[in-house]
Amino acid sequence: MVEILRVKGISKRFGGIVALKQVSFTVEQGSITGLIGPNGAGKTTLFNIINGYLKPDEGKVFFENEDITGLPPHTICRRGIGRTFQKNRVFNNLTVLDNVLIGALLRTSNVNEAKLRALECLKIVGLYNKKDEVVKTLSILDRKMVELARALSTKPKLLLLDEIAAGLTEAEVAWLLKLLKKINSELGITLFIVEHVLKLVMNISDKVIVLDHGEKIAEGTPEEVASNKRVIEAYIGGERGA
Ligand SMILES: Nc1ncnc2c1ncn2[C@@H]1O[C@H](COP(=O)(O)OP(=O)(O)OP(=O)(O)O)[C@@H](O)[C@H]1O
Ligand SMILES: [Mg+2]
Repeated sequence: MVEILRVKGISKRFGGIVALKQVSFTVEQGSITGLIGPNGAGKTTLFNIINGYLKPDEGKVFFENEDITGLPPHTICRRGIGRTFQKNRVFNNLTVLDNVLIGALLRTSNVNEAKLRALECLKIVGLYNKKDEVVKTLSILDRKMVELARALSTKPKLLLLDEIAAGLTEAEVAWLLKLLKKINSELGITLFIVEHVLKLVMNISDKVIVLDHGEKIAEGTPEEVASNKRVIEAYIGGERGA
């Protein structure tokens, strides 16, 4: 298998907090990889390092075999890493289409081309009919889909999704599961997903990586990870602390 992303020995501290400690793994091209772990495990910090929002204290990130460590987020995005955020970053007072256009314009300065791309992405996530609505009037699911469409409009080869299923109903999660599978298999986009909704991540991931207190404690198929003692302990401990 060909790797698209390699994270090598990444460490990150915030003052006295060790958010990530010597984390290494690879993500294979065309796969769906899950990243799980209790609250505060370092998942979002890792995404922030991969896409350039944060610089690591140690370690390197390679995308398509090139060192991208420390490059600015827009450069990393143009190279082909897209992202959605745990805390929704849509512009509530803009329309659905304008939100997605912002992403598409990162890839082209031609407004017509960007608009076509944005509309295409809105069709993929099922929001085409709501393209002229102002985002603040939308449901949680639809707002998340605006963000997903915006990420897709930047033409990612690798898409980082940070808790895209949080706050959704069971039926919505089931719908999202199908959509993500489709984005992976039909559009050929590699997915790297951080998720607390274990049903989703265990159902669609080829490989799952588990972080706890900034350390990688397990990596394997969903079945291997679910039966791993350290993972079970981390989750029970996490629930007690939550
Ligand atoms: N900018 C920051 N400044 C200081 N501490 C931070 C910062 N960002 C994250 N942290 C700390 O780093 C640790 C890892 O946080 P992170 O947000 O990466 O965890 P997470 O796994 O995404 O958690 P959650 O599941 O709750 O989203 C936590 O202890 C957090 O408080
Ligand atoms: Mg997080």
